[in-house]
Amino acid sequence: MSRNYTVAIVGATGAVGEEMIQVLERRNFPVGALKLLASARSAGKTMTFKGETVTVEELREDSFAGVEIALFSAGAGISRRFAPLAVKAGAVVVDNSSAFRMDEAVPLVLPEINADDARRHAGIIANPNCTTAVTLMALHPLHRAFGVRRVIASSYQAVSGTGAQAIRELRAQVEAIASGNPVETSVYPHQIAFNVLPHVDSFLENGYTKEEMKMQNEARRIMHHPSFRASVTCVRVPVYRAHSVAVNAEFERPVSVEEARGVLAKAPGLELVDEPAENRYPLPLHAAGKDNCQVGRIRVDCALDNALAFWVSGDQLLKGAALNAVQIAELV
Ligand SMILES: NC(=O)c1ccc[n+]([C@@H]2O[C@H](COP(=O)([O-])OP(=O)(O)OC[C@H]3O[C@@H](n4cnc5c(N)ncnc54)[C@H](OP(=O)(O)O)[C@@H]3O)[C@@H](O)[C@H]2O)c1
Repeated sequence: MSRNYTVAIVGATGAVGEEMIQVLERRNFPVGALKLLASARSAGKTMTFKGETVTVEELREDSFAGVEIALFSAGAGISRRFAPLAVKAGAVVVDNSSAFRMDEAVPLVLPEINADDARRHAGIIANPNCTTAVTLMALHPLHRAFGVRRVIASSYQAVSGTGAQAIRELRAQVEAIASGNPVETSVYPHQIAFNVLPHVDSFLENGYTKEEMKMQNEARRIMHHPSFRASVTCVRVPVYRAHSVAVNAEFERPVSVEEARGVLAKAPGLELVDEPAENRYPLPLHAAGKDNCQVGRIRVDCALDNALAFWVSGDQLLKGAALNAVQIAELV
């Protein structure tokens, strides 16, 4: 990249948007001008990029004049309405929401897996669901070596995956409980502090949630593996940052722990943390704030043939959102 670009962040004041600002700065992305867009509530607020103060503007239909790269993270409704306007104004859009992920005309990209797909874009590139992204960082290298058929998985998802309001809700509930005050809930249907909720996203007719079906549907597109199957239970846990997933994966070919470790140790964007005798395994507290996802607890599944059980943790605000979006922008 030899010149600087005019970049807009839509949803700049949110949990993902704030990370995007930091990732652009940390990776020294060639930003000529940065436009920070959010709702009318945030217009006039200031944020800092490379030591300079940038004022947040209200997102409007004419916000994209001169913008070359637009990173969207303000929800699917905003993306559906404003991403086409950004493309019309000449920008390439990288969208974090679910709005375009299953649109065949829109590439769905995890750069470590299907970077080439990004080059076939017609203006919009979609960023995968965060739990799917973290899981695939470990699953895809194993798929390339052994051919994955299906997975059964349970997620342990941090509240920051729901956004800035959910982080505040967990903090307020912990403080209320510690000081003997009544707990208030607004983001989640039940108390999240000192609890786990087997409910992420809305329920579908088949009994799964939308979040749970994303693992199968999005992984099929990213891995170019249309017969891949995934049965997932997504669980919200009182962790501030970084998702974890317990995965049981069945393969076409036999697989040993040694072979799996060999494959995973070489996988890009992934750190092998698998010394159970030393109490070393991936933890959300250790994965938080890190670009790499972590994999460990690797063992041969005792209830399935040609199968492994493993545990993966990853910062969903980074690999599942802001980092992946900036990596895509770097590709295009
Ligand atoms: N959190 C994650 O780990 C994660 C991971 C992958 C994908 N995503 C996706 O990223 C998107 C944002 O998630 P988040 O967690 O960052 O949510 P968030 O913390 O709630 O932030 C939402 C952002 O959208 C802005 N916004 C809301 N309504 C708007 C409007 N009418 N016009 C303009 N801007 C508006 C908000 O601005 P105000 O501050 O002014 O309200 C804020 O900047 C969602 O689509 C989510 O599915 C999130």
